[in-house]
Amino acid sequence: NWTMESFITKEIARIRELCGPKGRVIGAVSGGVDSTVAAKLMKEAVGDRFHAIMVDNGVLRMNEAKEVREMLSENLGINLTVVDASDRFLTKLSGVEDPETKRKVIGNEFIHVFEAEAKKLAEEEGSKGPVEWLLQGTLYPDVIESVSFRGPSATIKTHHNVGGLLADMKLKLVEPLRELFKDEVRALGRLLGIPDRLVQRHPFPGPGLAIRILGVVTREQVQILQRADDIYISEIRAAGLYDQIAQAFAVLLPVRAVGVMGDKRTYEQVVALRAVTSEDFMTADWFAFPPDVLRKISSRITNEVKGVNRVTYDISSKPPGTVEWL
Ligand code: XMP
Repeated sequence: NWTMESFITKEIARIRELCGPKGRVIGAVSGGVDSTVAAKLMKEAVGDRFHAIMVDNGVLRMNEAKEVREMLSENLGINLTVVDASDRFLTKLSGVEDPETKRKVIGNEFIHVFEAEAKKLAEEEGSKGPVEWLLQGTLYPDVIESVSFRGPSATIKTHHNVGGLLADMKLKLVEPLRELFKDEVRALGRLLGIPDRLVQRHPFPGPGLAIRILGVVTREQVQILQRADDIYISEIRAAGLYDQIAQAFAVLLPVRAVGVMGDKRTYEQVVALRAVTSEDFMTADWFAFPPDVLRKISSRITNEVKGVNRVTYDISSKPPGTVEWL
């Protein structure tokens, strides 16, 4: 009979057998549940022959790169390189407003940066042995449903987008989660000793804050949204509501609304808050916050985030709305 414990034992044995005694394994990590669980499982299977790469694309949540370093490298003992490619991504994104173009730019840059890093790791061979495998945290729903996300950045998740690595570097794919559903990945993560806070984390899209900044993406806009989002998520956690929500995030609108501060009129930006409940993200409903929680979030954002004077709450379901605004 199938248990998660027996899955772990069998999967670790399978990975060891598959990867052989010498080859090294690399894989991208994002701070999300799937890539972290896959990385931890790989570390259990091949130890230091696994090396994780995190690409900071400049549109991550506040302190994300730092937190991923603490979690993976310090807590879980995984070899990790964090590449700060934020300048490069933000330069490529400058002036871009169209959401599908944002996705394309981020997807393409990601592949370039990741490939360059993979090649660097492969060059430091010496006693370390050749890089032969690419870890992907593909889940069962991704396997059966080839188009689970709209937009080309989602192609990061599929096999074609790592085509360069697979072909040029002759890497082979290893996908330890390919038979699991999301709730099983969470259970697996817990058994592997990954903290609950990470295992329960809401999903975050590959194109990151770029698709939550509805206008042009600049460092300043990213910072405004990071601050608002950080306040929002901390207050959700403080109210004990995080695990009741499937996904929550702030969106930065490219309009200026009138406001008042002291005896002066202000023209500043608007933040929209989104929180949904959902089984599989194909349909979703807006989350019914207790009013006092929204009141506190709104007051903190307008007081603490310079450049924002108004907060709205999105009460659209999916369909007809989508979870993201872009
Ligand atoms: P929508 O907005 O389509 O979102 O209702 C459903 C789920 O998909 C995520 N999403 C993305 N994830 N790249 C991703 O990796 C993307 O381009 C993308 N677009 C949407 C969204 O966050 C939600 O969980």
